[in-house]
Amino acid sequence: MSSLSPEQIRTLMDAAKQSIRHAYIPYSQYPVGAAVLTEEGKIICGINIENASYPAGTCAERVALGNAISQGMTKFVAIAVYSPKGEISPCGVCRQFISEFGPEIQILFHWQGELQQCPIKELLPFSFSSKQLNA
Ligand code: THU
Repeated sequence: MSSLSPEQIRTLMDAAKQSIRHAYIPYSQYPVGAAVLTEEGKIICGINIENASYPAGTCAERVALGNAISQGMTKFVAIAVYSPKGEISPCGVCRQFISEFGPEIQILFHWQGELQQCPIKELLPFSFSSKQLNA
């Protein structure tokens, strides 16, 4: 289990909520915001970015992680994902993307009316990783 404090959880989810104003969603009108907490305590946000060629669009979680990674951060404690449309959890591609950076990364999301927290390893069991590549 993570040692995230209630305040860290609130701050991270608030950052995800705040970021949705930048969501680029001309096709789905479904805004998503994500915020990652790095090991050094920084919060980096991302939003979904859609495209006229639909599969080229990107989810908020991968944008947030890409923003952090492009600024030199690759160690993550948690990622919060939020949509004002209702319950949301990371899609399958995002689960794989997040898993790359460690099985213990905590995922915060609203589901069935409650704020959920679980490590990515629970959302993507038996995940393919560098372990298999190097076996
Ligand atoms: N979306 C995310 O940004 N994250 C998710 O985990 C699920 C879906 C976005 C992709 C697309 O822009 C919109 O939500 C509708 O699928």
